[in-house]
Amino acid sequence: MREITLVGIGCGNPDHMTLQGIAALQGADLILLPEKPEKPQLAQVREQILARHLGAQRPRIASFAMPRRERGGDYLDAVDDWHRRIARAWTEAMAAFPDCRHVALLVWGDPALYDSTIRIARRLDPEMALRVVPGVSAVSVLAAAHGIPLNHVSSPVAIMPARQLTARGWPEGFESVVVMLDDGHALEGCKVSAHIFWGAYLGMPQEMLVHGPLAKRRGEILALRKELRARHGWIMDIYLLTTRTP
Ligand SMILES: C[S@@+](CC[C@H](N)C(=O)[O-])C[C@H]1O[C@@H](n2cnc3c(N)ncnc32)[C@H](O)[C@@H]1O
Repeated sequence: MREITLVGIGCGNPDHMTLQGIAALQGADLILLPEKPEKPQLAQVREQILARHLGAQRPRIASFAMPRRERGGDYLDAVDDWHRRIARAWTEAMAAFPDCRHVALLVWGDPALYDSTIRIARRLDPEMALRVVPGVSAVSVLAAAHGIPLNHVSSPVAIMPARQLTARGWPEGFESVVVMLDDGHALEGCKVSAHIFWGAYLGMPQEMLVHGPLAKRRGEILALRKELRARHGWIMDIYLLTTRTP
């Protein structure tokens, strides 16, 4: 059976690559690569990783055009259909390389955290053996950049996409919540009395950090993320909210 290895590459700094991830790339005879990612700097990070660790020994590349998710309608149905189309795009791209048995795919951050690549790989038809190499997540890089632990002593941490914070509010029983995938709306709407540790472009040259009481910092962060988005053409940010004084 052909094998696909999902390699966590960290979240923006080529130095986030683990030795296990490098070995997985070096052991691959085919790399599956998205053709037109909307954020050129993210493609550049992937390219730097391949150039540094594979050099002239680069295996063959199977590129695929990344399908887009349909907007509107039921969110979970749209995601399910999107994943099906991505799995088909991978299969079609790999079909041109029938002799390649060890395929690798570079996955942003850690493949197990708010990323569906593992779910998509499990839908491949024909089926492929699956191997996952963990990567450095944006959650870890955020905490490290601020020099803080994510949790208070013996206290749980919730990690959630912004849409859930907006839809369900602050999760009961938690003092610490990490929010990913926010376009600014969840931050704008969150009226909890908390301290925020915010980070954008973590690990990249334009990394930006802000922290302080949410009520004082919210406006500044929202204005900054708007300005940065306009300046760079895209933004990726993440934040920790904690209701206990850090
Ligand atoms: C689809 S999730 C993927 C998370 C990834 N699997 C991980 O382990 O970090 C994308 C979200 O991760 C966060 N993120 C990823 N890389 C980031 C970075 N370099 N700086 C800030 N946030 C980042 C943002 O919240 C972004 O919306």
